[in-house]
Order: sequence, then C-alpha cells, then structure tokens
Amino acid sequence: MAEQRTSIHGQWTNRTVFILAATGSAVGLGNIWKFPYIAGENGGGTFVLIYLLCIGLIGLPIMIAEIMLGRRGKQSPINTMKALARDEHRNPGWVWLGWMGVLAGFLILSYYSVIAGWAMSYIFRTAGGIFQGVTADGVNSIFTDLVSDPERLLAWHTIFMVMTMAVVARGVKNGIEKAVTYLMPLLFGLLIIIVIYAMTTGHFMEGIDFLFSPGEITGKAILIAMGHAFFTLSLGMGAIMVYGSYLSDEHSIVQASIMIALADTVVALLAGMAIFPIVFANGLEPGAGPGLIFQTLPIAFGHMQGGTLVGVVFFTLLVFAAWTSAISLIEPAVAYLVENLGYSRIYAAVTIGMLTWFVGLGTVFSFNVWKDKTLSIPYLFDNFTFFDTLDYLTANIMLPLGGLFIALFAAWVMRKESTREELATDPLMYNIWRFLVQFVTPLAVIVVFLKAVGAI
Ligand code: PHE
Repeated sequence: MAEQRTSIHGQWTNRTVFILAATGSAVGLGNIWKFPYIAGENGGGTFVLIYLLCIGLIGLPIMIAEIMLGRRGKQSPINTMKALARDEHRNPGWVWLGWMGVLAGFLILSYYSVIAGWAMSYIFRTAGGIFQGVTADGVNSIFTDLVSDPERLLAWHTIFMVMTMAVVARGVKNGIEKAVTYLMPLLFGLLIIIVIYAMTTGHFMEGIDFLFSPGEITGKAILIAMGHAFFTLSLGMGAIMVYGSYLSDEHSIVQASIMIALADTVVALLAGMAIFPIVFANGLEPGAGPGLIFQTLPIAFGHMQGGTLVGVVFFTLLVFAAWTSAISLIEPAVAYLVENLGYSRIYAAVTIGMLTWFVGLGTVFSFNVWKDKTLSIPYLFDNFTFFDTLDYLTANIMLPLGGLFIALFAAWVMRKESTREELATDPLMYNIWRFLVQFVTPLAVIVVFLKAVGAI
C-alpha cells in the first residue's frame, strides 16, 4: 500500500466540483472552434467517426489512467511521476513525462490565448450590431480585418493572459467552481438555440450528412483526429492529472471520466451541427480553416430573431469555456514551481504567464506580418506558420506521446494491486480498462503515428 499523501494545494469540495472543473478543462475552444474547422478541412464523416472511436478507445481509458495517477501522487505531474515511480520501485526517470506535459501545456496556452482573444473581440463586434443582416462576404472581411491587425490581437491576447493568470494565482478552486456550475449549462442551451436556427436554413441535412457520412481519409487526417481526441479531453499533458491530484480518495474515477468525456463529445457534435448547415446554406467553404466559426456563426446571429443578444451571450460563454480550459493548461507548471522552488502562487503565475505571453507573440504574427514565414518538415507537414507548427507539434505529437506513456506507465509499470486499489471499481470494469491501456491504446497510438508518416 502506498503512503497516504495529501495535496499541499488543497482539495475539491466534493466530487461534483471535480467533475465540473474537469469538464471545464475539457470543454473549450477545442470543441467549438477547433473541432468544426478540422472536421471541415478533413472532409467530415470518416474523420468524425475516427475521432469518436479515439475518444472511446483511447481517450477514455487514458483519462481514467491520468486521473488515477494524479490522485495517487497528489502533486504536480512532474513530482507525481517521480513519486509513483519510486513507490513502484521503478526508474525515477519517468519524471520526464511530467516535464514534457508542462512544456506542451505552456506551448498550447501561448496560442490558445490568442484565439480566445478573437472570441473576446467578437463579443464587442456582435454587441455593436455590425452583423445585422450581414452577408457571407461581410463576415469574411470583418474576420480578415481582425486577424490582419497585430495590435488588436496583441491587446486581446494580453487581456486573456491576465485573466487566466489572475485565476491561477488565486488557486484553481476559488472561482472555477462557480463559473462552471452556471456557465456550462448555459453554453449548452445556447448551442441548442443555434442548432435550431441551423434547422431553419434548409440545409440542415446537408450539414448532418457532411458530419456523419463516411468518405475517403488519409493517414495524416487520422493522426489529426486522434490528436484532437487528446486535445479536446485535455489529455496527455498533466492537466487532468493535476486536477485528479485535488480529488479526494473516496470518489469513483471511472464514472466521473465517463461523464466528462460524454459531456465534451456532445458539445463538439452540437457545435458541428450548428456550423455546417450555415456553411452550406451560405455557399461557404467547409475547409476555411481556423476562422470557420467566426465566418459562419455571425451570419446566424445577423439573421435570427434576437440574434445580437444570442451572439453576445454566445461569445461571452465561449470566452468562459476557453478561460476554464486555459487555467488547467498552466496549472501543472504553476503547481511545480510552488512545490519545488517555494514560489508563492502569485509569483509562479506571473512568471509563467509572462513567458507564455511572450511565446504567444509568434501566434499573433502568424496571421499577419509572419503569414508567409513558413516551415516544412518532411513526412509531417508543409508550409506551416508558427501557429500551425505549434498546434501540430503539441496536439498531434506531444499529447498522443504523453498519453501513450501514461498508458504504458499505468499498465506496465505500476503493479496491478496499486491500480486496482486506486480505481476501486468493479472487476469487470477494471479488467476492461486494464486491457485497453495495456494493449489497445498503446498499439492504436503507435499504428496511427506510423500511418501518418506513411510507414504502413
Ligand atoms: N480541452 C481543451 C479544449 O478543448 C484544451 C486543453 C488541452 C486544455 C489540453 C487542457 C489541456 O479546448
């Protein structure tokens, strides 16, 4: 039996709060901004089915593993990995897994904050009424105006980073609990209103068809679908692990994970069902890229009854969803600085926040002054901007790699007694989970990697 630990950063008040916080981490720009545009770029149908398979067969088992590791270690992911490896009398070198996660979270936040800034600026645009009766060309030029102005992007990026670090500095618990309790259900409700509008466009079935009818798929697209399963569930970098470390011992991890994954998936699918009918009704391009939601949803807000209000509330909630995710991206790094360097939370948050802000400049410029500065890596990608490169390396490589090693650690490094004790679930559930993390998940990740580079 492992020694009893307690987290020096505190504990969630109860299980519901943990589920809300983890759902807050999972549901974010990934569901509403990223999922629709990558589904659009990769041809819909098959991509979506593979993404769903990855959620169930890879994401869910890894989420269970990650929460379990966190709760057993009760420290930042770096120290948790070190402590658990020691408990199991294994090589403390596993600590690098924690470091890779910290790096991934930091890099993701640097661009996540810039995109959250777009959503913030859209609150004010919508409120000002410029989308009233707008055409597809109109929304397009409004979006282009925004992203070609580095100063505006920089201002919003700065504001979002300050908001994020302010919450992290106060401790994740205070604030997050309330935000998620009310705002998540509201976001859900608004998405349903937009889906109902999408039904009135006359192109609803075309949208559904695009999302769910299978077609051709490439190895690269499969990697993107898998990478997104990690990204959207906040897996592979320690965010869910660190949240698990604040969970008290008596709660069921398996049940909680199922609820989180389900809520996250439903939000993504609703977003897709809201956006694609609008895309087809207005003759837009499903593969329009990162601007997709900003070039489609305003059309809905400009044409539906009470659209200005719905739009303002929607973008506000999107910013909140991004905020509750951003906090979890950086919590592993902040928790580490507090544990190992004795920093106060405030000092740790300010230090890491400034660094992240600085790296974010690369993404700010990716859409304007550095638009043509691109990079190609053989077998992986061609002509990627700084933003594209960061997104690709983190979501499609670092997170799946982190997840793969988390699965290997939980299944092959930890003793069976340890994982059985920590999960405390019924034997059938336990065996299914263990089989998945032992064989299915690692193999699937490796096969997808190999397929993406054309090796199989
Ligand atoms: N899951 C978040 C989203 O979908 C992003 C995220 C990734 C958060 C990794 C934490 C860790 O927006």
